[in-house]
Amino acid sequence: MKEYVVAVVGATGVVGKEMIDTLESREFPIKRLIPLASERSAGSTISFNEKSIRVEELTESSFEGVDFALFSAGGSISEKYAPFAVKSGCIVIDNTSHFRMDPTVPLVVPEVNPGALKDHKGIIANPNCSTAQMVVALKPIYDAVGIERVVVSTYQSVSGAGKSALEELENQSRVNLSGGNYPPSVFTHPIAFNVIPQIDSFLESGYTKEEMKMIQETQKILNDPAIRVTATAVRVPVFVGHSESINIQTKQKITAQKVRELLENAPGVEVMDAPENFEYPTPRSAAGQDAVFVGRIREDVSIENGIELWCVCDNLRKGAALNAVQIAEYLIQS
Ligand SMILES: NC(=O)c1ccc[n+]([C@@H]2O[C@H](COP(=O)([O-])OP(=O)(O)OC[C@H]3O[C@@H](n4cnc5c(N)ncnc54)[C@H](OP(=O)(O)O)[C@@H]3O)[C@@H](O)[C@H]2O)c1
Repeated sequence: MKEYVVAVVGATGVVGKEMIDTLESREFPIKRLIPLASERSAGSTISFNEKSIRVEELTESSFEGVDFALFSAGGSISEKYAPFAVKSGCIVIDNTSHFRMDPTVPLVVPEVNPGALKDHKGIIANPNCSTAQMVVALKPIYDAVGIERVVVSTYQSVSGAGKSALEELENQSRVNLSGGNYPPSVFTHPIAFNVIPQIDSFLESGYTKEEMKMIQETQKILNDPAIRVTATAVRVPVFVGHSESINIQTKQKITAQKVRELLENAPGVEVMDAPENFEYPTPRSAAGQDAVFVGRIREDVSIENGIELWCVCDNLRKGAALNAVQIAEYLIQS
């Protein structure tokens, strides 16, 4: 079997580490792994397939001889360095928002729109974590009965904001519990014992950028600019795992039982829906898992064609690293 040279840009971050773990656990055929980060982390080591590998500083010439580069070091880094990677003949799978809405760049969730991969010109974008899990759950319903409108409210974990956010929640919780004050620096308000209805910055419309990403990326992935989506994105004091309350207005009537059956047979989805036994997904049960978990499936009593569901996923896996590695797997298999 052919083996590939793979670079991970942002290898010391929460997503980068998860990418390296995912490449290892899924036995991606790797000839050489090149972990890249800023000069701050250059020289430190990461562990891959029981070997210790030195982290290198990202430079314009980091991509010579590289087959795949998985980027997760922020939008400005992708903007600057992805073109050098492409020039070196490398395929870039980008986790940042930088290229997602570029019409020449496919935005791909392999369970939903793998066909878009054939049009890539060297860069493929990974969607926002909240969008990725939502479209995996929406797709079977979309295909069966059509979707008119989606109203989603998210409950997003702090790992979605990177390693400094994880440290802030941990330290702030500890200090608050012992009666002290720990001023926020990553978030605009204390995140410990709190809920913050703001993810990313506000736009003139009153929506946040995160909410607009969910709207626009869903339309792009489903290739349906007419699908109406509205979102409220909320940060909650959970370490890993994003939850979403999703209200779906379908084009044709569908029962909750039929939705359950569709989702039970859908790739990447695991239905966890036995309220009589208190079974429904939670971030703690989803963390460390690959699937998009769905529960609380019911018909909306307020409209004719409405479905309510609760969707939970490990944002670092299907929301980021796993989706990126699945894209690379898809490309080497096709
Ligand atoms: N967290 C999520 O759930 C998630 C999901 C989807 C997409 N994303 C996106 O992925 C990106 C990274 O997120 P994260 O949560 O992993 O952040 P993070 O934990 O803060 O990690 C950031 C990574 O980027 C590297 N980096 C920063 N500046 C750099 C530079 N100038 N040159 C090279 N490397 C540099 C850091 O290296 P050092 O150790 O050297 O600082 C670190 O490896 C963001 O764009 C984010 O929006 C995150």
